[in-house]
Amino acid sequence: MSLGSMSLEGRAAVVTGAASGIGRAVAARLEQAGMSVLAVDLDPDPEGPGASHRADLTEPAANAGVVDAALQRFGRLDLVVPNAGIQHVAAIDEFPLDRWEMILALMLTSPFMLAKHAWPALRESGSGRFIAIASVHGLVASPYKAAYVSAKHGLLGLVKTLALEGAGDGIPATAVCPGYVRTPLVERQIVDQARAHGLPEERVQGEVILAPHAVKQLIEPSEVAEVIAFLAGPAGRAFTGAPVTMDQGWTAR
Ligand SMILES: NC(=O)c1ccc[n+]([C@@H]2O[C@H](COP(=O)([O-])OP(=O)(O)OC[C@H]3O[C@@H](n4cnc5c(N)ncnc54)[C@H](O)[C@@H]3O)[C@@H](O)[C@H]2O)c1
Repeated sequence: MSLGSMSLEGRAAVVTGAASGIGRAVAARLEQAGMSVLAVDLDPDPEGPGASHRADLTEPAANAGVVDAALQRFGRLDLVVPNAGIQHVAAIDEFPLDRWEMILALMLTSPFMLAKHAWPALRESGSGRFIAIASVHGLVASPYKAAYVSAKHGLLGLVKTLALEGAGDGIPATAVCPGYVRTPLVERQIVDQARAHGLPEERVQGEVILAPHAVKQLIEPSEVAEVIAFLAGPAGRAFTGAPVTMDQGWTAR
């Protein structure tokens, strides 16, 4: 198959967590490339990119509903981008079980359920892709983020398994692993990080958030979206079963 025959034009994608931050930028970028996008969120924005669709992805059945909605609306599904995520910052002996369960449900079980239900359509697509938004926290840990780090490590395991199963089905599966990206998820952490680290809030960005970055800059959501568009397109064919890390040098140490 020539690379040119696999343009994103006319193809269909599901992006979760598409009302904010990285997911919103990804939905906009894929739409710009000519894809039809189901923009799934707990709190959808009808003014945002894509066709907005409300779902609480912590409920396993809602993930099957998302795939059905995309197929009903677009008649095909070529790309799934599990992105919806939340954070909880707390020491292990204070970490609430309900937050652990919610984070695992949203950030590990939801990608599994999306893959499970989307697989036949991705196979049928002929150039199906499964590209999760993981995190540098899928590769390394930080204190006070037990659930998030565990979910992201698990997500990389899922993607590796899907890559092996997808090899025969023509479905590359991968996960992008960014360092800190300028989004509401990071802004919301500042108060909790200040408490957990015993620092005033104004010192959190420099001393906690950007501390592990070799390059002391946040990543922009549009930069992550550009990587997704590349991976989803013809040149992304060989990116499967391995993390795609964009972490401002975090893991170089
Ligand atoms: N911001 C960062 O620094 C960073 C770095 C690496 C990875 N990530 C990952 O990128 C993804 C997106 O994060 P972001 O920073 O854009 O966050 P964000 O808070 O800006 O957006 C997350 C979106 O997910 C939605 N969401 C939350 N719970 C949901 C649920 N139960 N069902 C459906 N949707 C739900 C929210 O409504 C929100 O629109 C997450 O998986 C996050 O772990 C973020």
